[in-house]
Amino acid sequence: MSLSAKRVVVVGGTSGIGLAAAKAFLDESAQVIIASRSASKLSEAKSALDGDVEAYEIDFRSEEKAAQFFNKVGKFDHLVITAGEGAMGSFSDLPVKDAKAAFDSKFWGQYITVHAAIPFLNTGGSITLTSGVYGKRPPVGASTLAAINSGIEGLVRGLAVDLAPTRVNVVSPGIVDTPLYAGMPAEQRGELFTGIAQQLPVGRVATSEDIAESYVYLAKNGFTTGSVVLIDGGAHLV
Ligand SMILES: NC(=O)c1ccc[n+]([C@@H]2O[C@H](COP(=O)([O-])OP(=O)(O)OC[C@H]3O[C@@H](n4cnc5c(N)ncnc54)[C@H](OP(=O)(O)O)[C@@H]3O)[C@@H](O)[C@H]2O)c1
Repeated sequence: MSLSAKRVVVVGGTSGIGLAAAKAFLDESAQVIIASRSASKLSEAKSALDGDVEAYEIDFRSEEKAAQFFNKVGKFDHLVITAGEGAMGSFSDLPVKDAKAAFDSKFWGQYITVHAAIPFLNTGGSITLTSGVYGKRPPVGASTLAAINSGIEGLVRGLAVDLAPTRVNVVSPGIVDTPLYAGMPAEQRGELFTGIAQQLPVGRVATSEDIAESYVYLAKNGFTTGSVVLIDGGAHLV
């Protein structure tokens, strides 16, 4: 299925995996609409992408803002959501409010965005959400993310049936070197990535580009729905 001239919305398309996905869709000659909260990130990403790109603000946790966003976008063909903020910490120590805030972002943000998008999705289109390998194999301190990611994968199986013939899938990345880790001192980040790389069968952490290809595959492959694409360098095996 060609993506040429198809309109692709990437919520979270201003950073990391979403920005790389926006670039990958442009490389397929699609028209790309990127979205996130920050006006400055939107304008930086638009200049970096340098193609057929529109950019609009959205806070995907808000039903009202999601509805306003899709009214601006109008009809489109493929929805990709990579936006989302998680919460890490041991179950006993992580405040319940922090776990709820992570659900509000990564789970409810994706749910709300899909809900608001439906009237605008053209027939023959697709929806691809984002979970993460911690849904399958959580390390210590990841019980909230394990629950969120598993919830998203369950939601996707339900949506693939409820929204048919629109195809609905989910990408589950392993550890990816993105600005998600920008708050961590460089040395600590380097040690984290090196330690993880040593454990992984592929011997390295992912780039955003590694993961971006999966969103393009799922938008193009007309026989894939209700699927989880786990792209984790073998993290679920070790
Ligand atoms: N990186 C990893 O190792 C990894 C591993 C497994 C799963 N994942 C998942 O992959 C997804 C993307 O991660 P990433 O590493 O690419 O993160 P990132 O570089 O931090 O990018 C996150 C994007 O989401 C947007 N965003 C965050 N909250 C938003 C909101 N409320 N409304 C609208 N946009 C929002 C951000 O822009 P604004 O700040 O402008 O809103 C940004 O564009 C996340 O769901 C993450 O949990 C990542």
